[in-house]
Amino acid sequence: MEQLIIHGGAGSLEGKLAEAQVMHDSLCKIWEESFALLQKGTAEETVRHAIRMLEDDPIFNAGTGSKLQADGQVRMSSALMDGTNNRFSGVINVQNIRNPIEAAALLSKEEHTVLSADQATDFCRRHGMAEYDPVTPERLEEYEKRCSGKHGTVGAVALDKEGRIFAGTSTGGIGCETPGRVSDCPTVAGTYASTKAGVSCTGIGEQITQQAAAARIVTRVDDGMPLHDAVAVTMRESNSFNYLYGLISLDSEGHVEVGKTAALNEVFYAFHDESSIRTFFA
Ligand code: GLY
Repeated sequence: MEQLIIHGGAGSLEGKLAEAQVMHDSLCKIWEESFALLQKGTAEETVRHAIRMLEDDPIFNAGTGSKLQADGQVRMSSALMDGTNNRFSGVINVQNIRNPIEAAALLSKEEHTVLSADQATDFCRRHGMAEYDPVTPERLEEYEKRCSGKHGTVGAVALDKEGRIFAGTSTGGIGCETPGRVSDCPTVAGTYASTKAGVSCTGIGEQITQQAAAARIVTRVDDGMPLHDAVAVTMRESNSFNYLYGLISLDSEGHVEVGKTAALNEVFYAFHDESSIRTFFA
């Protein structure tokens, strides 16, 4: 049975609860449209479609609406993992493109599957991706007030009819960070999948990376641990360091799990539970 879970980041509201309904409506719309695609298409198409829509919606911190780094530049990162072929690809700190997830998808066909900085942007231009300014007035204002949110990011994990699992993640970073900082998103700590499970993380990238969270959970499932336990054990380990992050995951039987550390208030996600779309905000 097909399954899809998406997320719109952790703590992105940063206290602005009035935006909860807007985020809920957007997540539901994106989930519904992407799930319709999954019913006739592949996990890869679905993850890319969902993340493109999340990147295009300025309320999320990825693609259009990405946060600005300390030097006033937007640098975006994205990754895609094909669990069947064990193939990870991604871009780190790419600039002036609309959909970083599409750059990650293009790189999955290359010999060298992860590119960074100017060379990643050059690669996108060579492959026909147009110049695009992802800065929104709201993010510019946040930057001018030097308001660094602690987290953001979008992601999707899908299981298709053929049993293939894809995971994808895309982020504009945390805002006002040291230029060139590398988050968890374009690493196997933030995005990982196998034939048995897939994970996409959101939260403080350094902590997700230190925990190797996505790869750790997937490896546990590969070794026979149920997904629920793999997420729970990993969250317990992260809590011992007081880490702040969350994640979405699914396994090859279509079970979904949303995890968050005790220090994190919110993960914004959507998946289908029996007869309705379930979302969570607090
Ligand atoms: N997880 C997103 C970031 O740390 O940039």
